[in-house]
This record gives sequence, C-alpha cells and structure tokens, in this order.
Amino acid sequence: MKALILVGGFGTRLRPLTLTVPKPLVDFANKPMILHQIEALVQAGVTDIVLAVNYKPEVMVAVLKKYEEKFGITITFSVEEVPLGTAGPLALARDILGKDDSPFFVLNADVTCEYPFEKMRDFHLSHGGEGTILATTVDEPSNYGVVVVHPNTTMIDRFVEKPVEYVGNRINAGIYIFSPSILNRIELRPTSIEKEIFPRIAKDRLLHTFDLEGYWMDVGQPKDFLTGTSLYLSSLAKRKPEMLVPASVDFVNGGNVLVHPTAKIGKGCKIGPNVTIGANAIVGDGVCLQRCVLMDGTHIKDHAWVKNSIVGWHSSVGRWARLDGITVLGDDVHIADEIYVNGASVLPHKSISANVCEPGIVM
Ligand code: GDD
Ligand code: MG
Repeated sequence: MKALILVGGFGTRLRPLTLTVPKPLVDFANKPMILHQIEALVQAGVTDIVLAVNYKPEVMVAVLKKYEEKFGITITFSVEEVPLGTAGPLALARDILGKDDSPFFVLNADVTCEYPFEKMRDFHLSHGGEGTILATTVDEPSNYGVVVVHPNTTMIDRFVEKPVEYVGNRINAGIYIFSPSILNRIELRPTSIEKEIFPRIAKDRLLHTFDLEGYWMDVGQPKDFLTGTSLYLSSLAKRKPEMLVPASVDFVNGGNVLVHPTAKIGKGCKIGPNVTIGANAIVGDGVCLQRCVLMDGTHIKDHAWVKNSIVGWHSSVGRWARLDGITVLGDDVHIADEIYVNGASVLPHKSISANVCEPGIVM
C-alpha cells in the first residue's frame, strides 16, 4: 500500500520551534511528529511513502532516510518548487500514487490520534466511492474543514473549509484514503484539496466520512501541542503503560509522565501530570513540572517550576525560575535564576535575565 504525507508549509504557528526544524520533525512525545505517522502506516502494511515537501527538504531527508532500511519501506521525497497546496502534491506524485489500482492514504503531518488505517481501508473498499475522510467532532469548528453528510448515511453532502457561519461540528481530521481515480481531478498547480477538490467529489456523491474513535488533535500551535501531548499520554497509559513512569515512583505526581531513559531527575521533584522529558535532559533537585514538554538536552535547575510550557532543545531554566502561560522557549534559550516568564515565545539563542509578565514574542 501507498501513502503521501503533506509536510509542506512553514509551520509559522509553531514558532519558535519551527525556526530550528520543520514542523514534522518537532519532537512529539520524544520522537519526530511524523515518525508516529510513519510507524502507524508501516503497521497497517504501507510500504511506499511519499513525503510532499516544499521547505527545508535536506533536513527532512537527513533525518528520515534511515527509516527506509529500518522499516523495509521506500520513502520518496517529492519536492515542490512552488508550494502546491494540499492537492497539487498528489499530481506531482502521480507516478507513484497511480501506479496500480489500490487506494492510497493522504495525511496532514500535524495531526495526532490512534490512526485507524486498516479500518479506514476496509470501509473505503466497502462503499466503492472515490474518497474517505476521517472525521471527528470539536467544540470550535471554525478553524477546520466541516463535513455535512446526507441524513442517515456516511455520504458527504457538503465540505466547507474554515466556515464563517456554523454548519456543524463534525470536522475533517486531516487523514484520507483515495482511489487513484481522484488523480484525474487534480492538475499540477497550487490547489487546495479542501476548497477545490472535495466539493466536486461530494457533488458526484463519491465522498464518504469515517468516524474516528478516541482522541484527536491538530498539534500545529503551542497550546494545541500541549493538549495533544496530554491526550497522547493518556492514550499511551491505556495502551502501553510500561512506556510511562509508574505512579509509584516518588517524583510522579498524578501520572502520565514520559521520561527518556537518558534523562536525569534530581531529588525531591514533583513531576506530572502530563509531562514529557526528552533525551539527555537534566532536571535538578526540587523541580516542579506540570503539563509541559522538555525537549532533548534541556536543563531545568534546582527548584524551578515549569507549567503549561515547552522548553526547546538545549535550553536551560535557572534555579527558582518559573515558566507558565504557554511559554515556548526556542532552541538554546537560557533563563536566569529566579526569573518569571509568562506566555512568552522566546526566539532561539536568547538569554533572559528580566521577568517577562505579559504574553508576547521575545526576540
Ligand atoms: N507539500 C505541501 N505543500 N504541504 C502543504 C502545503 C504545500 O503547499 N501547504 C500545507 N501543507 C501541509 C501542512 O504541512 C499540513 O501537514 C497540511 O498540509 C495541512 O495544512 P495546515 O496548514 O496544517 O492546515 P490547517 O490545519 O489550517 O487545516 C487542515 O487541517 C485540518 C485538520 O487539522 C485542513 O485540512 C482542514 O480541513 C482540517 O480540518
Ligand atoms: Mg494543521
């Protein structure tokens, strides 16, 4: 089976992390976001993966090429000269996606859930249409594509991208399976699959929706990245509790704590719930961590307090310092001792030695 992952775009909403690596390579629960998807595709029997890239392809190749051998798959980097949107990349990869009659998956790279690829494929083959869109429900649908079905069916009547007026709360989860005939509808030019292609397939009554069970999140911005991480850790606690630190360990407070085996934790810490600690991180004594992500190589010094925040690669937080309010430290940021930072996005390679009390960008 084949799949294409849309990994273009500049990931601006996930800055400052995406100033250092492209969005699909930002670590999510201690591995590149896109690797979760590649592993799930491999599990479902996919052997041919196209990565549709338009930004920093070299970085992506360097990190991901090695997984070809590891998983026994082919990864093709399909590089766009101009951004082709969410449909154009399918036309660019026509030779691979259309090489046989079997359907192929298409994924947005920034969504996390328990990927139901095998069930989607069975469902897609059973209805005989041209496309199946994975759907979930959200409270605030205006930031997503909304699907409206014909009453009592799975057939999509209307697809409305980022609706201004309320049309429903069942949304496009950003994961599809298509029959190769969809390629006849797509030209090699910048095209939005959501705005230009889906409405036409729906009009031909060939587009269906498949309901996702369980959690879902688009993790393309810091607030949602933290929520998505919490949801992922809760799901991991049910599926593979051995991956998390057991609640009986004295620093664990409330569960759902993922610590890389190479990280070092000091004495008297209070960690959790919903905390991820990356490779080679050092956490000092008496540190308090809640609902936060520490990337690889970070150093949280004694008695610091980090809550609702993301600490980027190789950054440090001083003794008795305090981060909160969706603070995001880019790569190699240093917060001095006893400093308070609330809601700041701090650009890479910056040192902070005065309190930052108001949300904003620190350059
Ligand atoms: N190759 C390539 N080229 N990829 C692109 C391009 C491009 O020009 N533009 C965007 N992408 C990729 C992004 O990297 C991402 O993986 C995916 O296409 C979707 O783009 P986003 O920018 O994340 O879109 P969104 O989050 O606003 O909306 C999309 O996702 C929602 C679910 O999270 C839409 O598909 C919505 O309908 C959907 O509900
Ligand atoms: Mg997105």
